[in-house]
Amino acid sequence: MLHIAIINGPNLNLLGVREPEIYGHQSFEQYLNQLAERFPLVHIHCHQSNVEGELINYMHGCMGKVKGIILNAGAYTHTSIALADAVTAINIPTIEVHISNVLAREEYRKTSYIASKCVGAISGLGIDGYALAVQYFIDNTILPGK
Ligand code: DQA
Repeated sequence: MLHIAIINGPNLNLLGVREPEIYGHQSFEQYLNQLAERFPLVHIHCHQSNVEGELINYMHGCMGKVKGIILNAGAYTHTSIALADAVTAINIPTIEVHISNVLAREEYRKTSYIASKCVGAISGLGIDGYALAVQYFIDNTILPGK
């Protein structure tokens, strides 16, 4: 079983309700059920928090437990050196995901403190960016006995 974590930052608990023209109409809970069906051999640990330090604590707790992290840090992407340091500190391959195309929006969304610490980034492909990141980990993670 491949264990990976999806970590969502501030305001992503409001997916489906929040600015649906940008972020879509689906709640993350609904989407997560679809992901579980789509990837039966992957155990997806999911965590959302609106609090920077809680996100960092959760990331620390991922050490030794997951082979990859999918991180949508929301607006902390553009502000948080602490989250960027956490990505480096835990040394777990991390993919940055954004539902919207952050490079096509306001100037302040064009900076990511996290991007250079990540394996790569998926931005602007909608909520299914998370599935693409899961597929990346399936294709690129060496598991014992595989
Ligand atoms: C976001 C983009 C961020 O700029 C924004 O602050 C979010 C969501 C996205 O998924 O498109 O909260 O990370």
